[in-house]
Amino acid sequence: MITEIVILLLMTILTYYLYVYKKIHWHYDKSGVKYLPGWPIFGNIIKNTFMKRHIIEEIDEVYRAFPDERYVGFMETTTPTLVIRDPNIIKAITVKDFDHFVNRKDLFTSENDNGLLGGSLVMLKGDRWRDMRTTLSPAFTGSKMRTMMPLMIEISKNVVEYLKDKTSKDLLVDDLIHRYTNDVIASAGFGLEVNSLVDKENQFYMTGQTLFDFTLWQRCCFFFAAMFPSLKETFKLEVFPRKTRKFFRDLVSNIIAYRVHNSVKRPDMIQLLMETTQEWKESELTSQVFQFFAAGFESTAAVLILGIHELALNPDVEEKLYQEVKKYKESNGELKYENLAELNYLDCVLNEMNRKWSVGLFMDRICTKTYVLPPPTEGGKPYTIKPGDGVYNVLNSIHMDPKYHPNPEKFDPDRFSDEKKHNIKPFTFMPFGMGPRNCIGARFATMELKVLLYYLTLNYKIVKCEKTSVPIKLMTRDINLKAVGGSWVQFEARI
Ligand code: HEM
Repeated sequence: MITEIVILLLMTILTYYLYVYKKIHWHYDKSGVKYLPGWPIFGNIIKNTFMKRHIIEEIDEVYRAFPDERYVGFMETTTPTLVIRDPNIIKAITVKDFDHFVNRKDLFTSENDNGLLGGSLVMLKGDRWRDMRTTLSPAFTGSKMRTMMPLMIEISKNVVEYLKDKTSKDLLVDDLIHRYTNDVIASAGFGLEVNSLVDKENQFYMTGQTLFDFTLWQRCCFFFAAMFPSLKETFKLEVFPRKTRKFFRDLVSNIIAYRVHNSVKRPDMIQLLMETTQEWKESELTSQVFQFFAAGFESTAAVLILGIHELALNPDVEEKLYQEVKKYKESNGELKYENLAELNYLDCVLNEMNRKWSVGLFMDRICTKTYVLPPPTEGGKPYTIKPGDGVYNVLNSIHMDPKYHPNPEKFDPDRFSDEKKHNIKPFTFMPFGMGPRNCIGARFATMELKVLLYYLTLNYKIVKCEKTSVPIKLMTRDINLKAVGGSWVQFEARI
């Protein structure tokens, strides 16, 4: 009897998902939106679910399948999401008609829960997001960034020092750079001075590492949350382990108490947030500082790691960069915030790193007010997006589309040179997102990347070694962009 009940239950569940799967197809067919059929339950992400392909490669397959469409249908498990292909529509969604697409989709935590990311800018919605963005924006102005630059310089010099006795040996860049971005956020975010290259197992670094190394359980939770969005509130699924949450809460709480009692000030994010007009509850302030860690640590590290990998594969680019930083050093001495703009080629190199390896993946938006899109192709019919429907404005596929960036696989910083940059069409290069919901940390990240690249190229020649993978292939089990086998290079002393 039990066996019959189980079989009946399984058949019912299967039939339900077959129906959901077909219903999405019928909806797209009726609306004239093209799509790749995918699989019941898994939609278009079956290979990613079984760690055979990166999520951006799944999206890219659908993007490339229909080169003449303005947008195409994508199924993330059982959730239909439009993938926008046309830069004009991306502009409309992210800027012109932003009022219709203010929110992002929930990951795990909703804006109301007690999780570390619940009250953060990334997850907040509507007016609560608007208010928070207005409160936080003054913490990211150019003048605030200027005060943080010395912290980054100091940590970059730690890296240069650390490499002194590691020259001409195979080195895993992933580890080196994670320690750099960790120390930057520890210092510029939380006011902690750590040198993770020397104190390898310091608690801040070790706790931070547990955040992004998703366990099988966390992966299952993600899948569950995507399949049953309405149940994730009931089960209170959290992205980060309880121990990690407690660590960050206690840390911020102790720092604030220390500063208040001892009238200590430091040029970091805790201080900047303490000085905003907002009356913060301690949990809110922790949430805000923590999100900078969550949003900034891995993304910045990924661009740097893959960027250094690219420099090893492209010695001509590296040599040109070296000549520029050497000249800068000869005429300016130390690196200064006000002179950063003189490093024009460094800027091009950074843009190219961000184009080829767009760690932001996509700008996801949830429709909040009904919106009518132009037809998917000339002669078709308009498509109505309803409140609650999601769209992906893809970054990677557009950055790697030869229509917008010829020979996209080539690492060619000169596409961003003064002579050529006018060839780049609006809304075809947007590594930090677009519109009012773009990356609030873009200036911070750009400075963090530039400072380290400056000191590294000034002091070392980055060269390919036997372990350097060519071409770079993406690790499939990670949501972040990482090279299979890691990024290995050698550093040769310049002086
Ligand atoms: C190279 C490094 C980084 C890249 C490529 C990057 C990229 C992005 C992208 C694409 C978005 C989504 C934008 C959109 O939907 O239009 C975003 C959002 C965000 N980023 Fe970054 N980011 C980086 C580093 C950082 C850093 C260092 C911080 C913090 C210090 C940060 C904080 C945030 C926050 C808080 C949001 C959400 C903004 C909002 O919803 O209002 N990011 N980032």
